[in-house]
This record gives sequence, C-alpha cells and structure tokens, in this order.
Amino acid sequence: MPTFPLHHSTSAPSFLRRQTQRLGLLAALSLAPLLSVAQAVQMTVQPGDPKLIISKHIQGQFAEHLGRCIYDGIWVDPALNVPKKGRLRMDVVEALKKIKVPNLRWPGGCFADTYHWRDGIGPTAQRPKMLNLWWGNNLEDNSFGTHEFLELCDLLGTEPYLAANVGSGTVQEMAGWMEYLNANQDTPLVQERRKNGHPEPYKVTWWGIGNESWGCGGNMTPEYYTDVYKRYATFAHNYEGAPPMKKIVSGANGDDANWTEVCMKRIPTNQMWGLTLHYYTLPTGSWSGSKGSATGFNEQQYFNTLRNGLKMDAIVAKHAAIMDKYDKEKKVALLVDEWGIWTDVEPGTNPGFLYQQNTLRDALLAGTTLNIFNNHCDRVRGANLAQAINVLQAVILTEKEKMLLTPTYHVFDLYQVHQDAQYLPLQFSSPDYVLNGEKIPALNASASKDKNGAVHISLVNLDPNKTLTLETALPGVSWKNVSGRILTSGNVSDYNTFDKPNTIQLAAFKGAKKRGDKLNVTLPSKSVVVLELK
Ligand code: AHR
Repeated sequence: MPTFPLHHSTSAPSFLRRQTQRLGLLAALSLAPLLSVAQAVQMTVQPGDPKLIISKHIQGQFAEHLGRCIYDGIWVDPALNVPKKGRLRMDVVEALKKIKVPNLRWPGGCFADTYHWRDGIGPTAQRPKMLNLWWGNNLEDNSFGTHEFLELCDLLGTEPYLAANVGSGTVQEMAGWMEYLNANQDTPLVQERRKNGHPEPYKVTWWGIGNESWGCGGNMTPEYYTDVYKRYATFAHNYEGAPPMKKIVSGANGDDANWTEVCMKRIPTNQMWGLTLHYYTLPTGSWSGSKGSATGFNEQQYFNTLRNGLKMDAIVAKHAAIMDKYDKEKKVALLVDEWGIWTDVEPGTNPGFLYQQNTLRDALLAGTTLNIFNNHCDRVRGANLAQAINVLQAVILTEKEKMLLTPTYHVFDLYQVHQDAQYLPLQFSSPDYVLNGEKIPALNASASKDKNGAVHISLVNLDPNKTLTLETALPGVSWKNVSGRILTSGNVSDYNTFDKPNTIQLAAFKGAKKRGDKLNVTLPSKSVVVLELK
C-alpha cells in the first residue's frame, strides 16, 4: 500500500535510522525502547520568503442549492423562531462571521449548470419553481436568488464566487448576469437591478465558467471544454468602475493530469485567473457501494480515511507541476474549490441531501488539508470546503431552531490566523502512524507570520494513540511567550449533537514551553493545535 508523505516530511524509520547511525549501535540499542515511546521530532521554522503569502481564500466555503444547505441552513421559514434578517438565519451568519469566511461559492456545484439566474430575481411570489434534478428532485422555489445571496455575502463581509451555467445555459445568459450585476449605465438590465432594490453595481469579480465540465457540467472532453471556455470567457467583460473579472476554468477531477494539461496548453494564461481542482476524501476510497459511516468506524477505517485524505498533497503537487510548465511565474491560481470528506448520509435522511455528521476524524482531516494548502501557497490561492451547512463536511449543522458548530468549524476558527500571513516553511521528519503493517505520517504542520510579527504554527497529530514531542528551533524569530489552543477528544469518532453541542470544543493548550531559544511541545494524540509565538 503506498503512503503519501506530506511536504517536508520523511518517514520515522529513516529518522530513527539517522539517529541510530549518529549515536552508534550500542548506544542506539540501549535508547531504542525510549525512542519508540517518546516519538521525538526535531522541527525548524525557516525564515521563508517575505513575498510568499498564504491567501486567505484558502479558507473559503461552498453553499449549493443542495439538501438543507441553503433552505433550512441559511434561508429559513419566516415562522422559525431564530434571530433573522428577512429570512436569513442570523445565528448561522454570526457563526460564519467569526471564522472570517473569505469567499463563498454559489449556487453550485452540479446545481449551477441547471440554474437560470433570472428565475431567482424580482418579487418572490412571481419567481418560477424548478426541480432540483441533481439533488433529491425536490421543488426549488427560487426564493433564495442573486440578491439574497449577495446580501448574505455583504453580512459576512465575504467575496462572492459565482458559478455560471455553462452546461445547460448560454453565453448570452451568463453575460446578462454579469451586466445585471456589474454595469452602471442605463441598460434595461441595470434598470431591472435598480428596480429590484440595488441601485449600485455589485461588482462581482469571481466567476467560475462551468463546474465539473468533465461530469455533471456536461460530460465534455477537455479539448471541447477549453473551446467552450474561451467562447464564454470572451464575453465576460470588465465593467467600468468594477475590478477586472477573475475568470476561473473548471478543472480536474482528482488526479486527472490530462485535464489540467489540456487546459493549460489550450487556454492562454492571460485568459484565466484560476483553474480549479476537486478532490473528495472517501473513507472506503470508492464511489460505488457504501462510502463508510460518518460516525461508526473502527481504527482501520479511520486510518484508511486519513490515508486517502493525505493524497491531497500528491494531487496538488501533480497539478501544480503541470501548471508550472505553462506558467512559470505562477500567475494562475490553483483553486481546490471542492474538498472534504464524503461519507454515507445519516440513516433515515434523504440520500440526495448528503447530510452527514462530523467527528473529530473530520477535524483532523480539515487541519491536515489546510496544512497541505498552506504548504502549497505558491500555487494554491483558493479553496472551498464542501459544504458550509448541513451538507457533506459541514462547519454548521441545523435542526429547526437548533444549531451546532462541528469539529471542522473549530479547525477553521483555529486556522484563521494564517489568513494573508507570510508563509514560513517547516523542516521536520514525521514519525509514522503504523497500523496493520501500513503507515502514514503521524504529524503534519504549517506556519506563518502575521502582519504584527506573531508566528503561528498549526500542528496535527493523526496518531490516535501516541503523543508526540517536538523540539523546535526558530532561527531569526524573536519571541517571548507562547500560547495556543487545542481541539481533541477522547475518541476520533466523537461528535457534537444538538443535545450535547459542546462535546468537542476548543480549549487552551498548555503543552508548549519556551526552553532557551527553543519551543518544546507535547502534542497529544488525535489533536489539532495552533500555537502563537510573540
Ligand atoms: O458538493 C457536492 C457535489 O460534488 C457538487 O455539486 C459537485 O460539483 C461535486 O460532484
């Protein structure tokens, strides 16, 4: 079984081998039992390149018209007894504000290629209904449309990221949407926007040109899609007073290198701002049959899930290397605009609604994935967790008026310190987490320095049984104090419920100490820790 070591990590046996060579055989033999218990890691935080920034957009979210993400999750029945602005659910809005969501992708997903924006503007009662054919065939009443989405973005202080309908729409439809949103002269579309309550242009600049065009977005070949992309992109005009359009190419499925190769070869880099990539972590590793339960899993299933999640590192590296061939200056952003764990739905729920619970395992996967993105920040400049509320690896779950924050939410809370901070490379050798003869790196990490000079290190220990100890050198960093927060729990399958919403929550971390110039950390098993050094 292959392993997928993270950037900058090597396996524990080679780490131990190097130690034993240095110490000499006899000394090593006497130290061997000690080393196997202590799992000691030497880490160095390097000064890095001041120009290399971790884009805040790596921490984006995704809200599709799918199951109960929009309806129930954000946009609720007027009679529901929760704080509301219109029909926008303010407890959810406040929670999302706290994690500083940098961009929000909408309306899909597969739904985007069936969506006709004109159905979602104007008086609500007059909006036509449609069938949501991808997700459960339920009736979509279009009460949440363009204006409602942009009001939500405004409340969140987030960048809207719209996906245009390429699969079943037209160039004229997409161009009309852009004019409706961004133009300011007296055209019929601008007059209509004003009549619908928004005199000023919205200035939406992030545009996905299609979604999964290799699949639900039209089952296209990459050659055909790139021609279609160029036609659509030609009519994605910049409007006076609005910033230039950020045109985003619908990218590869997982490790499909050919899709990326064809896109990069056939679309000039000045005709795209970004290229996407979708990769989901499946516990069983297979789309057919059961994907695995969200909450009921044994250690082997836990191990397999993390092993599959760690593949993100090799997948990103593979696409980034192809992009480097055509774009040496790294102008085009790689956007992993769908990622997360995809399990079986909760028993008794609509299979088309993709509602799943969220355990500590998912939080460890989230911390690991965000570390991978941070460590590839030279190319990965955007990502969107699928999805924000009540769908797949959600950060928030709702049930009527109740709401809970999932363990994954808390990871986003911890990692917000990395948003737009300077990337600091780390050097270390990870010990292995070994199970039944297979191994994955137990430790993954990333670090950054914020505008005020504070250094933040995020550490994930995937081993559910072993504590790790770290001795960290920080050449060139002057710091006096260390503080931190931790997310962990008794079992990797623990989760928050509507009756016990705080089973897993953040706590102050006391396991980090300054010893001379070094930072010593005792990192508990199955934990995510973010440290701040000032
Ligand atoms: O996030 C759920 C679905 O997964 C999206 O609609 C689609 O783009 C992907 O296949």
